[in-house]
Amino acid sequence: MQLLDRYVYPHRLLHWSVSGVVLLSLASGLAIGFLDFDGAVALLGNTLTDVLYGGHKTLGVMILLLMTLRVITRLAFAVPDHVPPLNTFERVVSKSVQRLLYLALIAMPLLGWAGTAAGGYPVEFFLWQLPGFISKDEQLSEQLFLLHEWLSWVILALVALHVTGAMFHWKIKRDNVMKRMSLFD
Ligand code: HEM
Ligand code: HEM
Repeated sequence: MQLLDRYVYPHRLLHWSVSGVVLLSLASGLAIGFLDFDGAVALLGNTLTDVLYGGHKTLGVMILLLMTLRVITRLAFAVPDHVPPLNTFERVVSKSVQRLLYLALIAMPLLGWAGTAAGGYPVEFFLWQLPGFISKDEQLSEQLFLLHEWLSWVILALVALHVTGAMFHWKIKRDNVMKRMSLFD
């Protein structure tokens, strides 16, 4: 039997699509947090501010959809063994960071969705308006967005750790870790 040396193709494709969309949603979210709504209108005007907020929400909902597919492909298909095996430190740290990334990338869009709905704002996905599910409650919205902001720093830290680990395996240890997730030979 041939040994599985990388994740199945759909899972690798999802890894890189989620990575790209997460970076875009962090960038648009940081711009929103840095400027605030009024600052964004003053700098960009009404139309571009709508594009910034609508685009950010669309990217966030896309992450929720992609992560749902990703949980399915992660559970449905075997994970390749590490050859050579990782040491205990590498195994514990990489598994913890990866699990926390899964949790954070599911919680983050849900917080954004709920905070938007509780603030009485539209939950936009491209040109559609999705149901909000919760009624207007401005205090709740503020608390949810505080968590949304806090979690964005956690995600940034986790991604930094994860990418540092990947680079270490790729460029310094030169083992097969990068190949497991690579889209190309
Ligand atoms: C993984 C997905 C997401 C990431 C990484 C992300 C990231 C961020 C960041 C960094 C901020 C700025 C926080 C601050 O400094 O105040 C922000 C704000 C915001 N996000 Fe997200 N977000 C995500 C998903 C969503 C979703 C799905 C929605 C809504 C459907 C959403 C709606 C908003 C809104 C409305 C704000 C502005 C909040 C305010 O005015 O205080 N986000 N997001
Ligand atoms: C926002 C960006 C990223 C996120 C959220 C992310 C998340 C993850 C997660 C959760 C895994 C575990 C495999 C799984 O079950 O899906 C993983 C694996 C992996 N990631 Fe990332 N990743 C990101 C960016 C990157 C980047 C930029 C690189 C390379 C420079 C990278 C390289 C890898 C590699 C090599 C693996 C395989 C690790 C292994 O199984 O030993 N990732 N990633």
